[in-house]
Amino acid sequence: MENSYSLGCDRRSTLKKTSLEYRPIFLHTRIFVGRQHKDLTMDFSLSEEHLMIRQAARDFAQNELLPGVIERDEAQRFPTEQIKKLGELGFLGMMVDPKYNGSGMDTLSYVIAIEELSKVDASASVVVSVNNSLVCWGLETFGSEAQKEKYLSRLASGQVIGAFCLSEPEAGSDATSQKTTAIDKGDHYVLNGTKNWITNGGTSEVCLVIAQTDREKGHKGINALIVEKNMPGFEIGPKENKLGIRGSDTHSLIFNEVKVPKENRIGKDGFGFKFAMKSLSGGRIGIAAQALGIAAGAYEMALKYSKERSTFGTKIANHQAIAFKLADMHTQIEAARHLVYKAAWEKDQGLNYDLSGAVAKLYASQTAMETTVEAVQIHGGNGFVKDYHVERLMRDAKITQIYEGTSEIQKIVISRSILKD
Ligand code: CAA
Repeated sequence: MENSYSLGCDRRSTLKKTSLEYRPIFLHTRIFVGRQHKDLTMDFSLSEEHLMIRQAARDFAQNELLPGVIERDEAQRFPTEQIKKLGELGFLGMMVDPKYNGSGMDTLSYVIAIEELSKVDASASVVVSVNNSLVCWGLETFGSEAQKEKYLSRLASGQVIGAFCLSEPEAGSDATSQKTTAIDKGDHYVLNGTKNWITNGGTSEVCLVIAQTDREKGHKGINALIVEKNMPGFEIGPKENKLGIRGSDTHSLIFNEVKVPKENRIGKDGFGFKFAMKSLSGGRIGIAAQALGIAAGAYEMALKYSKERSTFGTKIANHQAIAFKLADMHTQIEAARHLVYKAAWEKDQGLNYDLSGAVAKLYASQTAMETTVEAVQIHGGNGFVKDYHVERLMRDAKITQIYEGTSEIQKIVISRSILKD
């Protein structure tokens, strides 16, 4: 059986030299999947192109995200300029076909990029993740041609940012219990209700809103609608004051008699719940990659610090108490990375990734929480102050166990899957 993380790359035109070395790969390469391997060996090496993407995202994180990350976190300031640049470089529509302004890459490229950005700034990486996997992917996979031309091209190039609006005060985990209604009025729907904890809520121009059209039909009565910020009756609610990912922009959104044209419905009548579930299955791979990056970022800092800081006449890395913590962190991160890359690979192969995505998110988010706590511990008193970054990563880690399906929801998905036969 073919089983490889190494993907092919079809370079379609000569790389252009620009001042930013990481620019060309997003504009001039197209990754395709499924290179035929004649042998039966497993290959865990990354292709040259994946390594270039990793370097590009790493450079961007160091040069563009690191400066000011502590201040943005404290002030809860959205990384506006940085997100604009990420859009120009092709990070906001990484998997979208170039004919809709996307970068035409595979899911493995996407998770590698999210991992690297998250090592430095998880507030920025969640914007990239939501726009890519919860907004662009669903529109490209299930949207009409007219919807793709009107919305996807602008979303994939980062001209506008998107939001995915499922959660409500009483419908977070229990996603079928939507109170928001989209009443069918012939050529349009009338939308009423409130959505909560919406990532990109204040900054997005285009929202994918999940709402109940026919309560009698349960999940088969739910629709997904494309709603524009400037539609009358659309109001942005208060910004949330959060524990972590404080640079990201989380709001409630209020819909009061918003008229949404029928042509803005994604898929057939009643497809909204499955649209949301399918989008979240892929989204969870992105959040798993974010958790992996947060864990790896904290680990790298702890490793460096333990070789610099001395106690009792020796570097703290020489104390077994610290060395064993580092060994555990390394092991967990390696395991999480394999799960995340495997889920991405399965998606790229056209296999079902509901289970592998849930497994990856469950394990990587737990790894993020545990390793960031240990990174703070290794830093001692310095870990408790903001200058050393690890306390921020510890706060950022927590949300990866909550959004796009809590850890408990992942266990529902996993247990149902393994018990079904
Ligand atoms: N893909 C396609 N279809 C799916 C599916 C999937 N992954 N999962 C379920 N379905 C289908 C089922 O097959 C079923 O269809 P049929 O009746 O035709 O067979 C239908 O959907 C209903 O499925 P269930 O009976 O399993 O539904 P349920 O009510 O028991 O809920 C659940 C299942 C897994 C718990 C689901 O409600 C769930 O995932 N909840 C969590 C929602 C979530 O992740 N919320 C996070 C908010 S979004 C967010 O955080 C975004 C952000 O801004 C970062």
